[in-house]
Amino acid sequence: MSSYQRCGFYPALAISLAIVSISASSALSVYWWNVKSRRMKSRIRELEAELNSSVEKCAAERQGRVRAQQALREAVARPSAEELLGSSYPMTPIGVVKSCFSMRNGTPRQPLLVPLARARLIFNASRVPPASLEGIEDYSHCWIIYVFHLNTDLEKLWKHPSRSKLKAKVRVPRLGGDRIGVFSTRSPHRPCPIGLTVAKVEEVRGHQLLLSGVDLVDGTPVLDIKPYLPYSDCVQGAMVPTWIMADNQLAVVCVNFAEDFYSTLASCWAVAGKNSMYTSPAEFQELIKEVLGWDIRSVSQRNRPHDSLSAATEGGKAHKTLEHEVNVVASAGGEPLDHHTGEVIYHLVLEGIDVSYMIDSERNVLVRSAELRSGYCGKETF
Ligand SMILES: *[C@@H]1O[C@H](CO)[C@@H](O)[C@H](O)[C@H]1NC(C)=O
Ligand SMILES: *[C@@H]1O[C@H](CO)[C@@H](O)[C@H](O)[C@H]1NC(C)=O
Repeated sequence: MSSYQRCGFYPALAISLAIVSISASSALSVYWWNVKSRRMKSRIRELEAELNSSVEKCAAERQGRVRAQQALREAVARPSAEELLGSSYPMTPIGVVKSCFSMRNGTPRQPLLVPLARARLIFNASRVPPASLEGIEDYSHCWIIYVFHLNTDLEKLWKHPSRSKLKAKVRVPRLGGDRIGVFSTRSPHRPCPIGLTVAKVEEVRGHQLLLSGVDLVDGTPVLDIKPYLPYSDCVQGAMVPTWIMADNQLAVVCVNFAEDFYSTLASCWAVAGKNSMYTSPAEFQELIKEVLGWDIRSVSQRNRPHDSLSAATEGGKAHKTLEHEVNVVASAGGEPLDHHTGEVIYHLVLEGIDVSYMIDSERNVLVRSAELRSGYCGKETF
């Protein structure tokens, strides 16, 4: 009865108690909800961490697999030293040199000796777009890697390497006929007939690179060019064997031109001049002077120039030397001057113009005449 009474007596209290209990229970449920949500959040983080770690593990496994596959591929693909020594690397020239030196004979033996020696490196446009030449003009000089394409034993060297008789030693001028290992020389006759030279960069014109100071013969195939970097390429304090000093290019005392030389050159110029890399016969004559400013004869010619005298008596036979193609033509009947003096006439062919000259024992050069070489006629070969 009492509780009923209490209820009856204190309805307001009952209501407020109910409100309190409701709000308490709602506070409680909010509390529980918060706890639950915190638990859920932490569970989510756990799951996320698990997911992350398994993703990481997967990635690591994949990386490991890729690495293992790579290592396997490399191990399978990597050739042995023996395989490497037996392989060949076909390299196609990037371009061909159009040079003022029509023949090997007369081509300087080292670069930069003849500043007027000009050449155009004509790139194969289908392989070397002009953009490849961007920036090369900012260098004064560049290296040129080329093929000694005039070596007579090239075919044999490539087709039947076992049958080509490469000499391990080559005769060195000024070593009294002594021979030295081929790799101690710059002889063109080497196991890989590759040449290296440096030239002055003059200008880029489309897919052509204009050079000067070259020692390259006309038609030389070029494999690569690279900029010359003085800070690393110019070696301070580099040493050479003493015979190299003795083998230095011999400068001649003076180069004189015969009185009627210029007129013979001018008549050649009328035909060949339009395709020349030189602007006038006068400039071309300067080139001749620079080239003949060095004794360009082979050592055997230099040492025994009177050898050719015997040939002279045989009636103007072409004279062959060991080192060069036909480069001495002993003069005979029909050329009274030489018939009387018995002097040897040498030939230098520049841009297809055959320049004949004599050189005496004191190394004074007399340039006699110029004539067009048949087969050239100033034709553009590129
Ligand atoms: C899981 O990785 C994601 C993205 O890489 C990152 O944002 C998250 O914080 C990581 N979670 C945990 C729990 O490591
Ligand atoms: C230029 O190179 C291409 C591709 O190597 C070759 O087929 C083509 O004969 C070359 N052209 C000349 C003119 O050498």
